[in-house]
Amino acid sequence: MAKKAEKISSNSKRSFLKILFLSVMGISFGGVVYPIIRYLSPLSQQQAVEKIEIIKDEVPIGKARFFTYKGSPAVIIQTKAGFTALSAVCTHLGCIVKWLEDKGEFQCPCHAGRFDTTGKVLSGPPPNPLPQIAVAESGAKIVIG
Ligand code: FES
Repeated sequence: MAKKAEKISSNSKRSFLKILFLSVMGISFGGVVYPIIRYLSPLSQQQAVEKIEIIKDEVPIGKARFFTYKGSPAVIIQTKAGFTALSAVCTHLGCIVKWLEDKGEFQCPCHAGRFDTTGKVLSGPPPNPLPQIAVAESGAKIVIG
């Protein structure tokens, strides 16, 4: 009788340890796999938003305002000709361009590629201009996208 009780106790310990082991493995696996799946999955609804509104006053003439558009860095500037929105991702190797207000141009910090306010390449290795993003003015706002 005592042996039978001991065997039952041993079986329940074994079951408990098995459940504990599987739980720990499941949590560990989820902790590794979930970030990988999240990284590889398409952009969420919020990141993939099609249109962005910015208040005009936030972009005075000669200034640039960086923002995220469809999950990528983008920038809007205002010149005397109006507003222009561009991808801020350099077309050479993908670095993020910087706005040089004193020169009135964008410069890539990686290999010194230079772009004008329309995204056209001025010098350096970038093979293509910065892609433009549609801009429309709506009252006190700028609608981008
Ligand atoms: S990544 Fe911009 S110039 Fe090379």
